[in-house]
Amino acid sequence: MFKLAPSILAADFTMLGEQIRMLEEAGADELHIDVMDGIFVPSISFGMPVIKSIRGASNLFFDVHLMITEPVRYLEEFVKSGADGITVHAEACADLKETIEKIKELGVRAGVSIKPETPIAVLEEVEPLLERVLVMTVNPGFGGQKLIPECVEKVKELARHREKTLGRYDIQVDGGISLSNVKSVFEAGAEVFVAGTAVFRGDILQNVKAFKEEAGVAD
Ligand code: DX5
Ligand code: ZN
Repeated sequence: MFKLAPSILAADFTMLGEQIRMLEEAGADELHIDVMDGIFVPSISFGMPVIKSIRGASNLFFDVHLMITEPVRYLEEFVKSGADGITVHAEACADLKETIEKIKELGVRAGVSIKPETPIAVLEEVEPLLERVLVMTVNPGFGGQKLIPECVEKVKELARHREKTLGRYDIQVDGGISLSNVKSVFEAGAEVFVAGTAVFRGDILQNVKAFKEEAGVAD
């Protein structure tokens, strides 16, 4: 499986609706929505009002990546705003299991993300509940960073672990994904690729197509 999830953090917000329509037309698989609170990560991005307004303009799957402290406080609001899937950070939750159970109760896809320094062992208590694991390939907080090569090793480790334990979640990567590294990260075992800069810089349609060609899944 190969899926592309462009991150709107890199979009031109003066024409967000139009750019989302272009992504949809180009065959993007999900729309990645980065929410930052200025506490869990240094930066602040956007929140519910933006998600609500684009929800009315797109049928894409909304993949909401919450880089916020104690996300359990806001899960319901994000679902009401239009999230189809919510990924929380293991490092941001006092009770990760309770948080994941709540996401599932709300009827959306549940995911957990881990920062580059966080070992995959933290997933253990929630693994059977998960539909997605997001392995960050940069330190979360900003778009436009360079992929950290050690994180690709972590993807391999997780893919091996999933095989052994018969895990049913998909493996997503986020940060510094580009046309020059997507193939090797795909071969390492990742299945869902977030890309901000590499999709929005230049021609969106061409970029989405080029990603699919690079992964060998172009139609
Ligand atoms: C980083 C965000 C990413 C970011 C990716 O904290 O989670 O989704 O937007 O941007 P690029 O692809 O530019 O690294
Ligand atoms: Zn993200």
